[in-house]
Amino acid sequence: MNRIMIKDLSGHKAETVTINAWVDVARNQGKMAFFDFRDVSGKVQGVVFGKPEVLEVAKTLRPEWVVAIEGVVNERPEKMVNTDVVNGDIELEITAIVVLNTAETPAFELEDTSGVNEEVRLKNRFVDLRTERMHNNIAMRCKVISHIRNHLGEKGFFEIETPLLTKSTPEGARDYLVPSRLYPGSAYALPQSPQQYKQTLMASGFEKYFQIARCMRDEDLRGDRQPEFTQMDLEMSFTSEEEIINLNEQLLIEIVEKYYPEKRIQEVPFPRITYADAMEKYGNDRPDIREDKEDPNLLAFCWVVDFPGFERTDKSDDPQATGEWTFTHNPFSLPKESDIEKLRNKEDIGSIIASQYDIALNGYEIGGGSIRCHDAQLQRTILQILGHSDEKIDTNFDHMLRMLNSGCPPHGGIAWGLDRLVMLLQGEPNIREVIPFPKTREGRDPMMDSPATVPTEQWNELNLEVKEKKKD
Ligand code: AMO
Repeated sequence: MNRIMIKDLSGHKAETVTINAWVDVARNQGKMAFFDFRDVSGKVQGVVFGKPEVLEVAKTLRPEWVVAIEGVVNERPEKMVNTDVVNGDIELEITAIVVLNTAETPAFELEDTSGVNEEVRLKNRFVDLRTERMHNNIAMRCKVISHIRNHLGEKGFFEIETPLLTKSTPEGARDYLVPSRLYPGSAYALPQSPQQYKQTLMASGFEKYFQIARCMRDEDLRGDRQPEFTQMDLEMSFTSEEEIINLNEQLLIEIVEKYYPEKRIQEVPFPRITYADAMEKYGNDRPDIREDKEDPNLLAFCWVVDFPGFERTDKSDDPQATGEWTFTHNPFSLPKESDIEKLRNKEDIGSIIASQYDIALNGYEIGGGSIRCHDAQLQRTILQILGHSDEKIDTNFDHMLRMLNSGCPPHGGIAWGLDRLVMLLQGEPNIREVIPFPKTREGRDPMMDSPATVPTEQWNELNLEVKEKKKD
């Protein structure tokens, strides 16, 4: 018999149907057995009575077993109707049970995992992801991503994948390296973002690009940071800060209105605050401007604009710092029109304002971007200010400079931290709750048990040797 999804059962009243499901709850009451069954679409109650051969199998069922259940969709007696839940007016009178798979007792109750140790949840992520909370988080994440795809697709954006095995992209964090077997002593870097590729795509004439992009950064972890995370990354040619801000604002508003109707955006258009004002008034560049911080449904978006192009280097926490100055976001931003001459002459560097904008939501930085430097000479000047020698520029950025010199249009873009956005929309306390397979705060995956030691033969193949760690 064809499988009926649980959410559709009420359309089959008085019919005999088959569902495929997990046993959510099993209650044995002598001559009767009661169950809640669960599939991806919902839950339904099932009952066995008056069928000794079925009851015998029913009594063996345990939570998380996987079953095919045949039964008649009955209306519940009036006093048993529960109008608060889906299928609260029906129950399945079970006529046959096939056990498709048994299950060991789960490491924790799936009803409420809020008190369960996170390490245990992540080690057993296959069952942890079965909870309503996690299913809902992942389902909403999917919906947000599909909406972005449709919205940008309709606006003529190309969704283009860029490589994961690449070369260092300066975004201010440490790179993850992948040693090359074929080129001993050389390594690929995993991308900290698709920045250089998306700019290259502008030179290649695609004009509008986006990607749901995986990014890898080896940095200290916090609740809103993962070593591997997802960006909604976009870039446009012949654009302006105004156009990018408006496009992103419209997309964010649409997502909130469509999927989070219970939420209220504090102010539209999103207020814009200069970096200097944000630092002075809030002491940070991701201000929490909520008028009521207790309101879980309040979303206070704001743009932070007019970032300084350069900051004095603190070499201690910037692995890529090479000189006296460092970039505030990445080294590819164009200064504001009025500051371009200063940059060309390397004058008054600390006062140069970049066409750089961030978007903050309830005190979190959820995105950032800029209008890019499309002039190769000016790009070289920026890299020189950052302390790169011409020799190093020619080795590390030759492709960028050649690309800019090849007929590259003016362009700009932005990337959202998709995990952070979904975390805030879902009201979750950290991004691990909206990522199917996250790493712990210590950067481990307890389910796969990674990172893992590597057999000596594999290191040998890569021409690498592991040294014993020096004692501090
Ligand atoms: P940026 O480095 O600001 O910009 O990153 C964009 C957004 O990505 C999110 N983010 C993170 N989320 C989770 N874990 C992390 N470790 C992490 N690091 C960053 C943040 C951030 O705002 N190439 C530029 C974008 C551009 O200019 O177009 C870039 O990557 O929400």
